[in-house]
Amino acid sequence: MQSPRAPDRLLSRGATAWFATALLGQAAFIAFIAVFFGGAIASGNLAAVNAKPHITGYAPGDPLGNLQFLGHALLGGLVTLAGLWQLVPALRRRWPAVHRWNGRLFLTIALVVTLTGFSLVWLRGSRLGLGSDVSISLNGLLIVAFALLAWRSARRRDFASHRRHALRAWLLVNGVWFLRIGIMLAGLVLAPMGIAIDYQGAIFIGVSVASWLLPLLVLELYFRAERSRRAWRQVAMGGVLGVFALLTLAGSAAAAAFMWWPVL
Ligand code: HEM
Repeated sequence: MQSPRAPDRLLSRGATAWFATALLGQAAFIAFIAVFFGGAIASGNLAAVNAKPHITGYAPGDPLGNLQFLGHALLGGLVTLAGLWQLVPALRRRWPAVHRWNGRLFLTIALVVTLTGFSLVWLRGSRLGLGSDVSISLNGLLIVAFALLAWRSARRRDFASHRRHALRAWLLVNGVWFLRIGIMLAGLVLAPMGIAIDYQGAIFIGVSVASWLLPLLVLELYFRAERSRRAWRQVAMGGVLGVFALLTLAGSAAAAAFMWWPVL
């Protein structure tokens, strides 16, 4: 087999570096959900989840709303875990049958989490503000679209399309995680300038839209760089992914330190 050209190697290293930092950050998110939400459910003290601020959170006398909220959060952790498993090449190669079953699980839970998310916003009334409600709903609609496309292309054994759609669905499912690290990064830059971020303001809405749109755009550029025979495109994309790896690491560390760890 021919060894890859240096620009291809750089592109692939950039992607690996970014994925490694995303893996760490998402592992922290999953651990937080398991300990915080799982712990409250295991102890039978559901009100304990209100130890951190939510939009609505646990509300006494609203069993259906609480079930949706807690189910949404726990399944959110599970779908993040299932997504990570799908993308680790060694696991995919070692257990291909698990990859297929886990893929079905990922797409099914992604749809359930998205539908419960819609219900939380538009039926339970857990709203942050029109801008961010519309943004997360667009994120949800795109999850449904790309999850169905990924499913259909896998059934047709069109693996090139399947890979593209599944990666888009995975990034979109991680929109809520990107939002958290994005807000942390924005806070790290703006807080020293004395600028606060409020949920109805342009900064929060901008980060909210960027949390699903920017990863999709970067992925499209990555696909183009992969197909391109121009070395500079691959080198540039590898460099961009390296920068995003550093940002992801910083945002994840800040989210773990300031958002998740203090309430555990
Ligand atoms: C599929 C990817 C998604 C994942 C992994 C996910 C995960 C989560 C998690 C873990 C929480 C609890 C966060 C906390 O309080 O610390 C949460 C809350 C919430 N999610 Fe999602 N979510 C997803 C999609 C959505 C969508 C598409 C919507 C809306 C259309 C949505 C609406 C909400 C709302 C409104 C809350 C807050 C409820 C409250 O604070 O009372 N989610 N989500």
